[in-house]
Amino acid sequence: MSNNIKNNDYLNERSGLPKSLQDLLDKYPREVWDGNINLGNWSQFWLGRHELLRELGNSLKYVVHQYRDGMIADKKFMELFPERFNLTLSQLHSHHSVEDNHIFPILYNKSGAFRYGFDLLESDHEIIHNTMDNSLALAQKLVNEIENKKHDKLKYTIESFSKENDFLIKLLYNHMIDEEDLIIPLVIDRGESIFGLGH
Ligand SMILES: [Fe+2]
Ligand SMILES: [Fe+2]
Repeated sequence: MSNNIKNNDYLNERSGLPKSLQDLLDKYPREVWDGNINLGNWSQFWLGRHELLRELGNSLKYVVHQYRDGMIADKKFMELFPERFNLTLSQLHSHHSVEDNHIFPILYNKSGAFRYGFDLLESDHEIIHNTMDNSLALAQKLVNEIENKKHDKLKYTIESFSKENDFLIKLLYNHMIDEEDLIIPLVIDRGESIFGLGH
C-alpha cells in the first residue's frame, strides 16, 4: 500500500469519509444495511467486533471519568481500571492486526477505485497506535502515583490521562464509522464471496 494520504484526510483532520470515497455509500446508505442479503457471516462478525470495541471504550471512559470526578476512590478505581484498560488495548491490537494483515490486503486488491480508502484506514491505525502509546505511558504514571499515594500529583495526571483517553476513544470511534462506511457498501455491492472473506 502506498503512503499518499492527502493532508486533510488524516483521521484527526477529516470528518467522515472523503467525498471521493462515498459513491457506494450514497448508493447503499446505513438505512439499507440491516438484513441486506449480501452481508453474511463475515460482515456480521466484523461489525460485532466493532460493537465490542465500542462497549469496551465506553466502559473504560466511564470508570476514568468516575475517578477523575471523585465519584470513586483509589481502591475501587484500581479494582476496575487496569483490567478494562488492558483488555481494551489488547482487543484493539488484535483487531487491527487482523485487519492490517488479512482483511485490508484482500479487499485492497479487489476494491478498484476505493483503494485509497485502504491507505487511509491503514494510516488511521498508525495514528490510533501512536495515541495508544501516549495513553499507555500516562496510565502507567497514573497507576504508579496511586500505588505510591502521590495525591498532590495525581490530580494533574488523571486530568491529562482522561483527556488522552477520551481522544483515543474518539479517534477509534471515528475510524470505525469510516471503516464501516467504506467496507460495508463494497461488500453489499459485490458480495462477501468475491473477496473470499471468512475462508
Ligand atoms: Fe480498523
Ligand atoms: Fe475495524
